[in-house]
Amino acid sequence: MASVKNAVNVDDVRRAARSYLPGFLYDFIEGGVDGEEGLSRNTAAFSKFSLVPRYLVDVAQRSTRTELFGRHYAMPFGISPTGPAPLFRPHADLLLAKAARSAGIPFILSGAAGASLEEVKATAPDNTWFQLYTARDRNISHDQIRRATHAGMDVLVVTVDTPVTPKRERHLRNRISVPFRLSPSTALRMAREIVMHPAWFARFFASGGMPAMANWSPYAEKRATAAQTASFFFDQAFVPGYVGTPTWQDLETYRRLWNGTLVVKGFLHPQDVVRAADLGCDGVIVSNHGGKALDRAPSSLDALPAIRAAIGERMTVMLDSGIRRGSDAVIALCLGADFVFAGRPTLYGVAAGGEEGARKVLSIIATEIDLVMAMLGCTSTRDLNETLLTRNAP
Ligand SMILES: Cc1cc2nc3c(=O)[nH]c(=O)nc-3n(C[C@H](O)[C@H](O)[C@H](O)COP(=O)(O)O)c2cc1C
Repeated sequence: MASVKNAVNVDDVRRAARSYLPGFLYDFIEGGVDGEEGLSRNTAAFSKFSLVPRYLVDVAQRSTRTELFGRHYAMPFGISPTGPAPLFRPHADLLLAKAARSAGIPFILSGAAGASLEEVKATAPDNTWFQLYTARDRNISHDQIRRATHAGMDVLVVTVDTPVTPKRERHLRNRISVPFRLSPSTALRMAREIVMHPAWFARFFASGGMPAMANWSPYAEKRATAAQTASFFFDQAFVPGYVGTPTWQDLETYRRLWNGTLVVKGFLHPQDVVRAADLGCDGVIVSNHGGKALDRAPSSLDALPAIRAAIGERMTVMLDSGIRRGSDAVIALCLGADFVFAGRPTLYGVAAGGEEGARKVLSIIATEIDLVMAMLGCTSTRDLNETLLTRNAP
């Protein structure tokens, strides 16, 4: 059976997570939308490139350390926000934050997370960023921004790429409702899965079942259960239609309310990025939500060159979606990204192996980035550039 301990790459860790998790939860991590073309496009985009090594360079002294928004991180890689993480492993937000702290990289706490932004910031003060989902009741979003300021968060990430709830066909096939509820009838339907995955089942119920959404409970009904708070969150953040959908006007308001670094996550169109820069945003994460938003959207890597060309050095350009190896991260950096993030790899790790599992993934990626850079004759991430890339023949 696949184990995190013996894993030598991220795909091994993915297989360990697949064995550990009930199938409907593994699908929750792995699935995309519609026919899932976006998922394959995300990974295929990296295979369109080869890296061209430069030899006879002394690479004995080299470093993957990278400066981003005035902080130095151990490598140009961070953890993307993933709200349902505590379903896969109790307290996963905190475990991911601790893994990020020990690896010296940024961790973006999801606006749909289990743990409170205050607790996570206190756990990993130099590593935690906060991601905001816009609430239908804007007072909630503005209060969350105030709380993030008060907690001393440096970076606010506003996710804009899910104005409506996308059609996630694996959820529909598994008859999973979002927000996720393990009701007795669901449990019965899933009985076989649960019997096959007793360790997940034992942890889930030992930790009290459905995780609480601590960032939303202050605004829900008094004494609301975890499931009621989750329903409240979905009603606030994922109702289709204008009122629940963030607009440019909201982004302007957020810029006014937030004095720290403001990053927009989910843009793929160069004109949106330029408009966000004009509005005073500091950075963008080019992302298609890991193939979980618009299936026919371009991969982030395909969208990156036009965005970099349009924005030049006016803004920090980061990227996620599809990164599974250090070489993927290096390709994105050569193509113009300043930094990259990934969601699923550390989710596999934390699901199958807790904090240790997430740390294992980060150490695999750190080693891979370091080795690939050395092969390219680069002693610093600043040396990575387009001359080290070639496009494979189609
Ligand atoms: C299970 C899961 C949950 C996610 N939840 C969020 C979220 O709460 N907020 C958000 O901005 N993005 C969310 N994302 C998208 C990730 O932040 C990120 O964009 C995506 O995972 C990148 O693709 P990758 O998994 O191929 O690295 C989620 C992704 C997954 C797989």
